Amino acid sequence: MSATVLVLNGPNLNRLGTREPDVYGTTTFADLAQLCSEVAAGCGLVADVRQTNDEAELIGWLHEAADGGTSVVLNPAAFTHYSYAVRDACAMLTAPLIEVHLSNPSAREEFRHTSVVSAVATGTIAGFGIDSYRMAIEQVARLVGT
Ligand code: DQA
Repeated sequence: MSATVLVLNGPNLNRLGTREPDVYGTTTFADLAQLCSEVAAGCGLVADVRQTNDEAELIGWLHEAADGGTSVVLNPAAFTHYSYAVRDACAMLTAPLIEVHLSNPSAREEFRHTSVVSAVATGTIAGFGIDSYRMAIEQVARLVGT
């Protein structure tokens, strides 16, 4: 049985494709989910790709990953910058956690320069558009040895 990687996405990422395309590109969330599934399959993983605009739902999914010892690729979106609750849920994970961003938050507005998640992540990949996810899934595969 293939190992699962949860690919979790926070608020507004369901709007990809039409949301600020100059910043986030024109790929839709459905396209992104498809890419993640294909990349994961090529690495011997199964991607379970989810998106929510609800902090409580995202935290519930992180608890599920903690309980299952499941690897996570997480784009916390705006929660990145202020949600200590998401950060504390991430701190419970035992399998690899890769923080991803489509844009490079460090090159944008000041409030995006802080990530409260990075310190509890295995690593962070930012600024490569949808390829950030590709690289993150490849790193999960390397870390879990599929
Ligand atoms: C983002 C960057 C965040 O600052 C922003 O709030 C997002 C998307 C990214 O993928 O570039 O919603 O996480």
